Amino acid sequence: MQAQQSKPYHERNIVLIGFMGAGKTTIGKALAAKLSREFIDVDELIAAEQGMPVTEIFRTLGEGAFRRMEKEYISELCLQQRGAVLSLGGGAFLQEEIRDLCMANAAVFLMDIPWEQWKTRLPLIRDSRPILQNKTDEEIKALYDSRQAIYERHHCKVDAGSQTPEAAAQAIVDWLEEQK
Ligand code: S3P
Repeated sequence: MQAQQSKPYHERNIVLIGFMGAGKTTIGKALAAKLSREFIDVDELIAAEQGMPVTEIFRTLGEGAFRRMEKEYISELCLQQRGAVLSLGGGAFLQEEIRDLCMANAAVFLMDIPWEQWKTRLPLIRDSRPILQNKTDEEIKALYDSRQAIYERHHCKVDAGSQTPEAAAQAIVDWLEEQK
């Protein structure tokens, strides 16, 4: 299937990116409900199709295998153009091919959260994210900082730290309306 680069943003898939725990899934579900669109959490899709949670994929097959799956699933979803809301894992944009595909074919929204706000969420997600295992707080801060560069590729930045998921979802709806 051909990439359709000229599609207006409101007709494209919506892609939510951002650091682990920024609220991509919660905001994505609220957004999909508002727009009556399908919601797809890419990590959950991969886990369901592989028959094991992402932590288990990291443990048994390794991060490289997970990243290959991420690229395969996201590429396919991006090119399908089904008007869905896609929540990507926080490391998906590490891959240039994923960044390029999403920017060309989807409307990409960064769920932005400052470190000071994000670190209060760390205890809630620390045990469930393989990338955070065996890391000190300093190493996690360094990871957060290094990831900001890959999140610079987006069409619109959304405040996911100080507003409710509902308000963040509404900000996306409003932005899409303004682009029409
Ligand atoms: C990862 C983020 C996770 C998941 C995997 C790797 C990352 O997704 O894809 O554990 O490298 O940042 P969430 O951002 O939904 O937690």
